[in-house]
Amino acid sequence: MTKTKESWGSRIGLILAMAGNAVGLGNFLRFPVQAVENGGGAFIIPYLVCFLLMGIPLLFIEWSSGRYGGRFGNHSTPYILDTMTKGRILKYIGVFGIFTNIAVAAYYAYIESWTMSYVLHSLRGTFNGMDQTEVANFFVSYTDVLHSTTGIPFEAVVFYILCLSINVYVLSKGLQGVEKVAKIGMPLLILFGIVLAIRGITLGTSGASEIFPDANAWDGLNFLWTPQYESILDLKVWMAAAGQIFFTLSVGMGTVHCYAAYVKSKDDIALNAVSAGFMNEFIEVVIGSSIVIPIAAGYLGMDWVRENAGFGMAFQTMPYLFQQWGTVFAAVAGVMWFGLLFFSGITSSLAMGTPCVSFMQDEFNWNRKKGAIGFGLVTLIMGLPTVFLFNYGVFNEYDYWAGTVSLVLFAMMETILFSWVFGLKKGWKEINMGSDIKIPEVYKYIIKFVTPVILIVVFLGTVFAPKDNDWSGNIKSLFSGNGWTLDNSSIIKTISNAGLKEQIAAATDPAVVQQLQDTLFWVSMARGLLLVLLVFILGLIYLSYKKRVREGRVTSI
Ligand code: ALA
Repeated sequence: MTKTKESWGSRIGLILAMAGNAVGLGNFLRFPVQAVENGGGAFIIPYLVCFLLMGIPLLFIEWSSGRYGGRFGNHSTPYILDTMTKGRILKYIGVFGIFTNIAVAAYYAYIESWTMSYVLHSLRGTFNGMDQTEVANFFVSYTDVLHSTTGIPFEAVVFYILCLSINVYVLSKGLQGVEKVAKIGMPLLILFGIVLAIRGITLGTSGASEIFPDANAWDGLNFLWTPQYESILDLKVWMAAAGQIFFTLSVGMGTVHCYAAYVKSKDDIALNAVSAGFMNEFIEVVIGSSIVIPIAAGYLGMDWVRENAGFGMAFQTMPYLFQQWGTVFAAVAGVMWFGLLFFSGITSSLAMGTPCVSFMQDEFNWNRKKGAIGFGLVTLIMGLPTVFLFNYGVFNEYDYWAGTVSLVLFAMMETILFSWVFGLKKGWKEINMGSDIKIPEVYKYIIKFVTPVILIVVFLGTVFAPKDNDWSGNIKSLFSGNGWTLDNSSIIKTISNAGLKEQIAAATDPAVVQQLQDTLFWVSMARGLLLVLLVFILGLIYLSYKKRVREGRVTSI
């Protein structure tokens, strides 16, 4: 067994670290965009149902699996699964608990690094006097690393390396470091979020202008909060809602397993899981939805928001809108907005680093410092292509395979393993052991039947996504014998790069054709790199297992 005796310093530290793991850029950047793109109020019901039937059960599964593995000295997903499945080959499924974290951290830390740079630019008043297009172009220039004119040479690379170094430094301090950052970062981000949300809620029509005379912040809030019951039948919205729940709760990643593995063996996990999960939902649904959308709707109108909703809004639009509050308040708002994004980002990226460090510590006797540096270097190698080739689809490629497909695939497999291989009888006992709350019995059946079925449907839906995401049309077509037409976003079509190839065939401008062909090349390279990482980690698991056999410490229960 491992010599690791590390555990969380306090319950509040653990809950804040776990909530920090969940609360991330997804809460403030991804959620509002998903909500707008999926019809606002149409999104919220499927989203909440997915939270209750998929998110909460997965939190119970991952917290209890983690604590169970930790009891046997295992803190990383491969060996947590190994303990639960009695040393079968199933530990290799745990590769996702390390792979996904490194691959997501690689591009996630890049966004995190933008927030650091934007805090400084807000303080320096870089955006003062810029019009909306200039602010948007600033971001375009910033991410065009080789030709950027935004500040110091290669600014994006410098901040990326700085950001990774901060992560490595904190990780090298172990759980104590993570806990400290969570204790500072979480209250600050909530404070900043509340101040900005109050501004969003109270803006009303005061931001209307000659160009946007109908602008009204309340339109943004009404759009998000007026439920539309017809969405219940739209599978596209359900898929988007399920995807958001995965990403925002960080389930299917291995981070929860790892953090929970450091809980003391009889400590409560049920109430902790629910507390961290609900804290994430409060921050996402209440605070996250009250900033970007209402503020943008308040100045630019809801029509503009609907047409332009995208993840770039946070960087390309918000600094311009803050200028409307005068130079001093623009700087304060910029620091608060990008500061809250930074804290939400770093508490999540630290959670992505911990499983890798723990794996190397448990299996290869590395100390925290060496593990943290190792994580930083591998993440840097994986991440630099996303920095240099941001405009060539590499970033999106990572997000698709690691930030979307892997989460669903692994969550589906771990749920089936938990309920059907480990066995729900043992699983339910494990979830309830030391519990400070009584979990409703109905969750026993949800975990055993409902959650796996939802996950299988979501997974198949990702593999076979229908053309234009028109589920009802394609289901009708299937039953009337006209077959099923796949969308270019389905896994099957993505593997063959069908969408890009269609764009190349349709393009006439030679420059556009060249850009698309380059994109095709780099996207294929990025996929190759992800595959190399996956195989590399599988190799490490294999070697670690051989080492365990040699040392006579093969897991047995
Ligand atoms: N859960 C993290 C986020 O929402 C990854 O950004």
